[in-house]
Amino acid sequence: MSHKIFIPRDTTTLALGGERVVTAVLKEAQARKLDIEIVRNGSRGISWLEPLIEVETATGRVAYGPVEPHDIAALFDTGFLNGNASHRLSLGDPEEIPYLKKQQRLTFARAGVIDPVSIEDYKAHGGFKGLDKSLTLTGQDIVDEVKASGLRGRGGAAFPTGIKWQTVHDCSADQKYIVCNADEGDSGTFADRLVMEADPLMLIEGMIISGLAVGATQGYIYLRSEYPVAHQVMNEAIANAYASGYLGGDIQGSGKAFNLEVRLGAAAYICGEETSLLESLEGKRGLVRFKPPLPAIEGLFGKPTVVNNVLSLAAVPFIMDKGSKAYADCGMGRSRGTLPFQLAGNLKQGGLVELAFGPTLRELIDDFGGGTESGLPMRAIQVGGPLGAYLPESQWDTPLDYEAFSAIGAVLGHGGIVVFDESVDMTEQARFSMEFCVAESCGKCTPCRIGSTRGVEVIDKIRSGNNVEANLALLDDLCETMIDGSLCAMGSMTPIPVKSAFQYFSEDIALANASSSVQAEAK
Ligand SMILES: Cc1cc2nc3c(=O)[nH]c(=O)nc-3n(C[C@H](O)[C@H](O)[C@H](O)COP(=O)(O)O)c2cc1C
Ligand code: SF4
Repeated sequence: MSHKIFIPRDTTTLALGGERVVTAVLKEAQARKLDIEIVRNGSRGISWLEPLIEVETATGRVAYGPVEPHDIAALFDTGFLNGNASHRLSLGDPEEIPYLKKQQRLTFARAGVIDPVSIEDYKAHGGFKGLDKSLTLTGQDIVDEVKASGLRGRGGAAFPTGIKWQTVHDCSADQKYIVCNADEGDSGTFADRLVMEADPLMLIEGMIISGLAVGATQGYIYLRSEYPVAHQVMNEAIANAYASGYLGGDIQGSGKAFNLEVRLGAAAYICGEETSLLESLEGKRGLVRFKPPLPAIEGLFGKPTVVNNVLSLAAVPFIMDKGSKAYADCGMGRSRGTLPFQLAGNLKQGGLVELAFGPTLRELIDDFGGGTESGLPMRAIQVGGPLGAYLPESQWDTPLDYEAFSAIGAVLGHGGIVVFDESVDMTEQARFSMEFCVAESCGKCTPCRIGSTRGVEVIDKIRSGNNVEANLALLDDLCETMIDGSLCAMGSMTPIPVKSAFQYFSEDIALANASSSVQAEAK
């Protein structure tokens, strides 16, 4: 009898020695003359338990993790192929691991369960049902369903996806495009990568449905060039989708067409901004375009274009299969559905947590984070990537909802959450945020290009105790100019982390001053 073993092929698992685990399993099975089949699945997103390997048994799957190559012989000895729970790494039924069980997985339901590139496996787990239904509908019907779901763009700005699609739908043009923003440049975010490495056919299905909705026949995935594994998996999945007639000139005999390609990004944060992305996709330098015209009206090569984040497009198959109501029933206020929160930074249990909008930041961290990795108390949490606010404990009871975050001057963005312990120097973090803008500004407008450079200089003066009060007022002025005068969110949002660091953690100014005078004396 052949034993089926699942060992993820995603980036996190590979970084933690996944390939060596595969080699060790193969070697051990050969030595024991056991017939095994290894399926290279994607990750379930429980990063702190990777490499998490699972075996298929008569009563379901059993998980073990985190597994290292030197554990393999003992796992075989204790009968892990039959799901024996006596080994210390045994985690039992993976679906019952509390970290997973407490989630509401709509988008990530198949992640880690299936072989990411297998059409049969995808279909056996509900794949392509949303597309099958969409093929029977008009474009307007699909747009209406997505509107009714309340889905808002998951790439950061939270713009209603259905409204964007309506604009493209209503344009008449000889060619329209679907562009998937898979640049994922935000610090602490990895949900897009997990989709592409664990369930790429779901993204492909979402893009085809988007094409049917607006009348676009060509799609591009603009993929972060630092994601070689996602690149490989995406391309394999696209090839399989073509081979089985889901992509190409006649989708499942419907007479409708959709073609799809992956294009590698230019390794610049600003290339995630949609207009800069389009410039880059056209082969030019990633410079932000003036709006209007909106990309929905004049986008790629001047044609009407849907630009959506991976998670926005990946949510669409669920909406079309289960209905907009099933999606809209989750969430709070105007934030409907689920958001895959990404826990990173100084936490014991980093990983992906998909939940309906609504719990507080504190609940999320307490229920899933497992405390800091360092063991020191938590001090600050940055939510929403490098342009998001640093939140002190007094703000951790804010519900995870777009409007509730905006009411406290923060952003949920892409759902990235980075935790800092009490050893952090928040004036240094403020400097880092401003310096990030210096490095990543596209240079098109003065408040961002010059303002960020002057901002770093002013922060340095504050940190070294030079005329602190006057320089804090100057920094405030500079931030207002960046907010009001920048062409895009890179310049207008950089003040968010900078201002929050000084507002909520002002006691660190005195510490930075003291340490700089000690250093000056030592010289
Ligand atoms: C500086 C900057 C970087 C961005 N990076 C990304 C990114 O990496 N991925 C993404 O989906 N959106 C990113 N965005 C947001 C996009 O401009 C755009 O709003 C998004 O792709 C639209 O898709 P959605 O409506 O599905 O969110 C960025 C925006 C800015 C201003
Ligand atoms: S704000 Fe910065 S990144 Fe955006 S257009 Fe201006 S210079 Fe470019």
